Amino acid sequence: MKFGIDPATATVIKRYPHRAEDLVKSFSDRQVICKHWLAEELDKIIKRGIKKDRPKKRIYVAGCWYGNVLIPLITDMFPDCDIRMHDINEQVIKIVKNIYFPDLEQLKASVLDSQHFSYSDTLINTSCEHMKPLKCTSGTLMILQSNDYTHDKDGTAINDHINCVKDVDELIAQYKMREDEIFYKGEKDFVTYKRFMAIGLRK
Ligand SMILES: C[S@@+](CC[C@H](N)C(=O)[O-])C[C@H]1O[C@@H](n2cnc3c(N)ncnc32)[C@H](O)[C@@H]1O
Repeated sequence: MKFGIDPATATVIKRYPHRAEDLVKSFSDRQVICKHWLAEELDKIIKRGIKKDRPKKRIYVAGCWYGNVLIPLITDMFPDCDIRMHDINEQVIKIVKNIYFPDLEQLKASVLDSQHFSYSDTLINTSCEHMKPLKCTSGTLMILQSNDYTHDKDGTAINDHINCVKDVDELIAQYKMREDEIFYKGEKDFVTYKRFMAIGLRK
């Protein structure tokens, strides 16, 4: 039997011990499944030739959290794209910049409330349940995940889920996707809640 922890994660836990539980959550099976789901469906769309021109130059990641699972998948798929990561939490952004991706030149991370930013080109937001629908310019390629996880099994409200949706169509409506430019919509049933994903263009 062999156990291991990657050096970056070990450094985060040493420097920010109070974030250890949150960090472990970011590596949970469900988180990993959903990030791979995103990468696989996006890859299929691009391979079908639907959006060969996208992302053009830049991918924004709103409410990016640590980026530990998503960013390696995205840089493998789009090695030449700029990545702009936004999170409202200052420590999260320090961890992204200084510990997980200090040498990734194509990536810049900023402390920012995504609700006050206007997105363009390509937006990934896997934190839609955490914020009001975001502003995007017309034609933005939007890759979105949300859920209906309003309450825990014991009935406790999940306070930071301020914008859950009942189904994927509500997510599509919130983000004003063009009906004829929805490239993917689907859901995963995790028993206690459902996770939704939609990929398409902004009206
Ligand atoms: C728990 S995490 C991500 C969970 C999400 N289900 C996922 O799979 O990526 C939510 C992140 O969104 C960030 N966040 C919440 N509100 C935000 C806002 N208005 N602007 C930017 N980031 C925000 C939080 O700081 C946190 O890092």
